[in-house]
Amino acid sequence: MNRRTEVPNRETTAQRLQLSSAKLSYDPDVDIDWDAPLHPDKFFIPEQLISLYGTELWDRMTQQQRIELSKQEMVNTISVGIWFETILMQMLLRMTYRQDPTTRHVHYAYTEVADECRHSTMFGRLIEKAGGRPYRQPLHWYALGQVLPFILRGPSMWAATLMGEEVFDVLQRDTMRDENLQPIVRAVMRIHVTEEARHVRYAREDLLRGMVKASRFDKEFARLVAAEGAMLLATTLTRPLQYKRAGLDPREARRQAWENPHRKAAAQHGASRVVGFLSEADLIGGPTERIWRRSGLLA
Ligand SMILES: [Fe+2]
Ligand SMILES: [Fe+2]
Repeated sequence: MNRRTEVPNRETTAQRLQLSSAKLSYDPDVDIDWDAPLHPDKFFIPEQLISLYGTELWDRMTQQQRIELSKQEMVNTISVGIWFETILMQMLLRMTYRQDPTTRHVHYAYTEVADECRHSTMFGRLIEKAGGRPYRQPLHWYALGQVLPFILRGPSMWAATLMGEEVFDVLQRDTMRDENLQPIVRAVMRIHVTEEARHVRYAREDLLRGMVKASRFDKEFARLVAAEGAMLLATTLTRPLQYKRAGLDPREARRQAWENPHRKAAAQHGASRVVGFLSEADLIGGPTERIWRRSGLLA
């Protein structure tokens, strides 16, 4: 059977997600023990997900430097997460602006905005708790973030959403399960992963519905957005400043990270789920596939 014909209608999807949200949602302000001290000898993300893991530079680093780099990479990732969630909240609100506020579809969009508000607050608190400084994004990213909520619609909006949510989701599941990490990081990731699973479903199912009536242009545009998302992710996860803050030579560290086969494998592992979905939805292919290749996220 064609996958698109199996997708429930908007109201059915939203109703299920609303029920699930009512049963299982978190308030990070009270559900996380923000006063518990950090462990000086524990990593913030799994070692094998650190971009320099296994490189020659890594071998020369002390354990404390490795832990510091794991912290910087976590702070970088959640700083990007806040940037992305702020754009997503705007897109969701713009989507609902002229829609019927009695529908479950609109109610769930509001629920997701509320989730993302709590997530961004929680990420901000985690950066502060870790004693890190948030990473600013490049100026053109902020400009992009002002424009995207106005131009992304339907499949392109959901393609951007899934690129932002699914890769981090896969990596955050690994983080949540690793018993050797800082407990507070695992607690934050557990909350995020639980609530994001619903967001991913909302986005995926509406993307598939939208693809049925998408024009050739809509489809190519959604492909471009997904491919640029892949490139942006690959670039941001090897941002030179995170190496500098960890006391490393930023250019050399970035070079070694970019060529690191362990990093490539981790990035492809993170992207594998969204790549599978987008491929099935025919949203990877055509002229923009070479951007995906350059990003290194395609296996
Ligand atoms: Fe989130
Ligand atoms: Fe989300």
